[in-house]
Amino acid sequence: METLKNYIEENKKRFLEELFDLIRIPSVSSKAENKNDMYRAAEYIIDQLLKAGVDKAEVYKTDGHPVVFGEKIIGKDKPTVLVYGHYDVQPADPLEKWNSDPFEPEIRDGKIYARGADDDKGQLFMHLKAFEYMIRTETLPCNVKFMIEGEEEVGSPNLKIFCKKYKNMLTCDVILVSDTTMIAQDIPSITVGLRGLSYMEVEVTGPDRDLHSGLYGGAVANPVNILSKMIASLTDKDGKILIKGFYDDVLTATDEERKELNKRPFNIDEFKKSINVDQVAGEKGYTTIERLGIRPCLDVNGIWGGYTEEGAKTILPSKASAKISMRLVPDQKSKKIDKLFEDHFKLIAPEGVRVKVRSLHGGEGYVAPINIPAYLAASRACEDTFGKKPIPVRSGGSIPIVADFEEVLKVKSILLGFGLDSDAIHSPNENYPLFNFFKGIETIPYFYKYFAEMK
Ligand code: BES
Ligand code: MN
Ligand code: MN
Repeated sequence: METLKNYIEENKKRFLEELFDLIRIPSVSSKAENKNDMYRAAEYIIDQLLKAGVDKAEVYKTDGHPVVFGEKIIGKDKPTVLVYGHYDVQPADPLEKWNSDPFEPEIRDGKIYARGADDDKGQLFMHLKAFEYMIRTETLPCNVKFMIEGEEEVGSPNLKIFCKKYKNMLTCDVILVSDTTMIAQDIPSITVGLRGLSYMEVEVTGPDRDLHSGLYGGAVANPVNILSKMIASLTDKDGKILIKGFYDDVLTATDEERKELNKRPFNIDEFKKSINVDQVAGEKGYTTIERLGIRPCLDVNGIWGGYTEEGAKTILPSKASAKISMRLVPDQKSKKIDKLFEDHFKLIAPEGVRVKVRSLHGGEGYVAPINIPAYLAASRACEDTFGKKPIPVRSGGSIPIVADFEEVLKVKSILLGFGLDSDAIHSPNENYPLFNFFKGIETIPYFYKYFAEMK
């Protein structure tokens, strides 16, 4: 496909300009103030799909943000690829940590800097441009459906319902997703595992208002002290989670599987350096690769309560709260873990405080087989464009809707992501290297080619 490289070269500038126009729309799904931007982003993708050559593309309203669906059907006998992506992004805060405007993309050192540059606007855009190429050159070998949602970053609360409702419209042979990372620019990889998620918020209440810490301190339960102790008691010194039943459904890997898993290139020193820590930490008896890929974990995402402004204010706070996430692995079920957590947390609450626990969102993990035609097609595509066979990797991140796809649509997903761990997704100065963006556009048509040949 020599014309493919030429096509990319000739259209580079336009591809970037068009991507930048999408990035300029601040489609932050968690903020009410951006509600209208969600429609603008959806409409923009519709416009891009129509210009690229789909038969039809429409915005579907949901109870939340809209879903974009478009398709190009070339023949009933052809295999169908459903491309999934998300046009919503995480908030840009803290704004002062950005070196340029998060919604005004800027290219520096060969990278696009902006919120959504990688996750997932940059990555979904590769699919639009790869599709455009196949249409222009009349080389599209499969039917293609695009389903681009606007609620991934808030847990896809409406997409499962959408999938059930439009099951027939979404019929396909494989779901292709670019919303993950690869090991390095010269080490291609395909994600074969995602972790599930159970995300809780807890609140501990003591007295009905903040009290003078001299007049009451030492005589009344302090919610911040208590919450700290409760959280500390959730894990032991070996990094084991102490919630009863937590590990019951964890699928344990065999020694053979663990050996395989640890073969992937991984530089622990670079890993430490990249986040400026001098030591890694986690569950005893497991490597960092295993801790991320096949073991669950529990993390406080945020904690607050009492007086946190400038100077000292001598109070005994009325309340303390925390957001706690648990990354899950097969075959843990998030609803069950929610319940185990809630029961445990209420059980360990001492006298003198009241505890509230609620689940914010959750989802199941996913493991993809590596012996199906779609995986082999993705593998061969990477081999063609990177000159190396990609390595299957179990990622620590989550895309909960992928497990729902399997449950509702009964279709496997291929996680062919082109991001890097260093792209700072969800962080200030999110970026996406131009190399990865164009490499993705180059690789995707090969996937279609091989997938069509194999089916
Ligand atoms: N694209 C990410 C997930 C991801 C990134 C997986 C890199 C593997 C490698 C996705 O947009 C995301 O951020 N997911 C959330 C889950 C969601 C329920 C908020 C996550 O993993 O925290
Ligand atoms: Mn994403
Ligand atoms: Mn994300």
